[in-house]
Amino acid sequence: MSVQIRPMTIREYDAVIALWQRAGLPFEPEGRDSFHAVARQLQASGHLMFVAEADGQIVGTAFGSHDGRKGWINRLAVDPRYRRRGIAKQLVAKVEEALTHEGIIIVAALVEAPNEPSLKLFRKLGYEERRDIIYFRKFLRDRR
Ligand SMILES: CC(C)(COP(=O)(O)OP(=O)(O)OC[C@H]1O[C@@H](n2cnc3c(N)ncnc32)[C@H](O)[C@@H]1OP(=O)(O)O)[C@@H](O)C(=O)NCCC(=O)NCCS
Repeated sequence: MSVQIRPMTIREYDAVIALWQRAGLPFEPEGRDSFHAVARQLQASGHLMFVAEADGQIVGTAFGSHDGRKGWINRLAVDPRYRRRGIAKQLVAKVEEALTHEGIIIVAALVEAPNEPSLKLFRKLGYEERRDIIYFRKFLRDRR
């Protein structure tokens, strides 16, 4: 099986949403994962947002971002039929490489505690686990 990792284009929006559904990754089609929100993010940081393509379809995604201080890996998902073949590992490596080009030297990911595959993946990829940090968040307007 040959897998190509490359930047996402907005034409792939529907295929990406379909992948997230297959992968069981929660998303907010009316909010930050809407077509317009993703298009805006692509305009700002499309060079950090990758898809994996195999057998003519989108089978994985990883969206990177950074604020100049720290990089983030978001929206990491792989089609259940293509798991345990190193696709997430390749996607994370691509985001890390792109962030490195931007001068970013630290990258982080938020993982929900019971998500064992994801926890194991980030441990395997050399990410340091911090259990002494509590995540705070606030919605600045109603979630739609
Ligand atoms: C987490 C996820 C992206 C992993 O994708 P993947 O392509 O299967 O991962 P890889 O094949 O690159 O795995 C690399 C390493 O991570 C670890 N790993 C990944 N999935 C694992 C699992 N289910 N159980 C144990 N270890 C796992 C292994 O060490 C693996 O290396 P190995 O196969 O040589 O043992 C995938 O399971 C997924 O899409 N899950 C649903 C969406 C999700 O939870 N996303 C993350 C949000 S933070």
